[in-house]
Amino acid sequence: MTREELKAAAVAMLDRAYVPYSHFPVGAALECSDGTVFTGCNIENASYTPTICAERTAVSKAVSEGHRDFVRIVIAGRSEDFCVPCGVCRQVLREFAPDLEIICLNGAGEERVFTLPELLPHSFGPEYLL
Ligand code: THU
Repeated sequence: MTREELKAAAVAMLDRAYVPYSHFPVGAALECSDGTVFTGCNIENASYTPTICAERTAVSKAVSEGHRDFVRIVIAGRSEDFCVPCGVCRQVLREFAPDLEIICLNGAGEERVFTLPELLPHSFGPEYLL
């Protein structure tokens, strides 16, 4: 999948987002080193706390299908601001891909690119426990 196709896959997931409370849809497309792509959207809940972000939906789909080797993720939102990953998602992505490329899109389709170490410096990961 090309970079533009990966971005389009994340944007397409905005329509799948279940966001009756925040009205803030997020779409994600997570690419693995073998080219496999897992998409995700945010899924909210009336009890609020069980809400899962788009990025973690994509990671859950990937890991449960046997994929852990992630190379980049596109995160799409509809607001003026670039949709950056929340702190919890940064930590979850860190578990599997400490050097992940993170492409954040705003509603106009403009992008800002980060690396995970930029967004989560001095991070805690699995190697601390080995
Ligand atoms: N959200 C995501 O899906 N990803 C993020 O990294 C930021 C926040 C969702 C969670 C919630 O459904 C809505 O955006 C508002 O916080």
